[in-house]
Amino acid sequence: MSAAPGSGPRAAPRLVRYRAMAPGDLPAVAAVERASYAFPWSEGIFRDCLRVGYLCRVAEYDGAVAGYGVLAMGAGEAHILNLCVRADLRCRGLGRRMLALLVERAREAGNEAVFLEVRPSNRRAIALYESVGFTAVGRRKGYYQGEGGREDALVLRLDLAAGRSGGPA
Ligand SMILES: CC(C)(COP(=O)(O)OP(=O)(O)OC[C@H]1O[C@@H](n2cnc3c(N)ncnc32)[C@H](O)[C@@H]1OP(=O)(O)O)[C@@H](O)C(=O)NCCC(=O)NCCS
Repeated sequence: MSAAPGSGPRAAPRLVRYRAMAPGDLPAVAAVERASYAFPWSEGIFRDCLRVGYLCRVAEYDGAVAGYGVLAMGAGEAHILNLCVRADLRCRGLGRRMLALLVERAREAGNEAVFLEVRPSNRRAIALYESVGFTAVGRRKGYYQGEGGREDALVLRLDLAAGRSGGPA
């Protein structure tokens, strides 16, 4: 699939639609996932995320899945489980927009914080998360599969309670 017609390398594609993920999206979502990660989620994992009611969103461009995000919520905390943009559509703002949508939904639902795990080597993703206020709060030992064994995850947290009004400033 080609990038947005007539757009520059960092221009956001027009007509990107953000909507709920549906069962019919799963093959396309899993294909983007396989192309994006060395140790991808299976289609079944995405199906389970839909089944248990996680917030699953896709970005659709030109009738095809351009990216997706998965958010779990419970006990006052939200957890971003996956955020991914198709390789040919990266660096155009889709990831930032999807992240903002997930964070907004977490905030609207009254959560105190959003958490996520990221590989310490994933500088691009970390730069995106830090730019919207996520900060590192810990490390999970051996969280990820890696080429040479298990790899640690960096745990990032975004405080949603800090900016909430509820009393005098
Ligand atoms: C991480 C990811 C979702 C970002 O999506 P994207 O659509 O490319 O990101 P955006 O275009 O919205 O860029 C957002 C920010 O990411 C960072 N970024 C994007 N492209 C970058 C690049 N080529 N180099 C360094 N940082 C980059 C910048 O901080 C950028 O901020 P800016 O808008 O001020 O330039 C995407 O790279 C991806 O799908 N990666 C593979 C899957 C993955 O690693 N997911 C995260 C798992 S925790």
